[in-house]
Amino acid sequence: MHASFFAARLVVLAAISLVVSAQSLLPDGCDRNVTVHAGDTCDKISAAHNVSTYQLAEVNSKTIDRGCDNLGIGEVICLGIKGHDCKVTHVVKGGETCHSIADAVGIPEKTLLTNNPNVGSDCSSIYPGEVLCTSKKIYVKAT
Ligand SMILES: *[C@@H]1O[C@H](CO)[C@@H](O)[C@H](O)[C@H]1NC(C)=O
Ligand SMILES: *[C@@H]1O[C@H](CO)[C@@H](O)[C@H](O)[C@H]1NC(C)=O
Repeated sequence: MHASFFAARLVVLAAISLVVSAQSLLPDGCDRNVTVHAGDTCDKISAAHNVSTYQLAEVNSKTIDRGCDNLGIGEVICLGIKGHDCKVTHVVKGGETCHSIADAVGIPEKTLLTNNPNVGSDCSSIYPGEVLCTSKKIYVKAT
């Protein structure tokens, strides 16, 4: 009796602290959020929700590490900040380049490079499965 009562209290406490920490981790002005499921990767979440790889990492830089190895199942993460949320995206396929993607979408290559600084100024860090913001609007300040 006593042991199970104690265990039940522990479960309730754990559940409360999970809810509290999940909420407090979202950045101010979060526009969209999603709960992490088993098997998710950052790029999988990005592709499913039209968020660029860069934006997902930036918005959650306080909680998700650089390699995206610390996603927790049940964790709530933010997809974009209001007013800075690029929802027009493209998932990179093998053989594509920044030039070919920009051409296909009909935006200047410079805009693509500005909105996706993680690919590098020469687009050498592009990889299949990466999600790029392909909006013609600039969301990321040029450095
Ligand atoms: C997450 O988004 C939903 C709407 O999809 C919203 O109702 C909820 O309040 C958001 N959660 C947090 C912690 O902001
Ligand atoms: C992502 O964008 C595609 C193409 O514009 C659209 O068809 C799809 O509904 C969008 N998905 C989400 C989750 O917004």
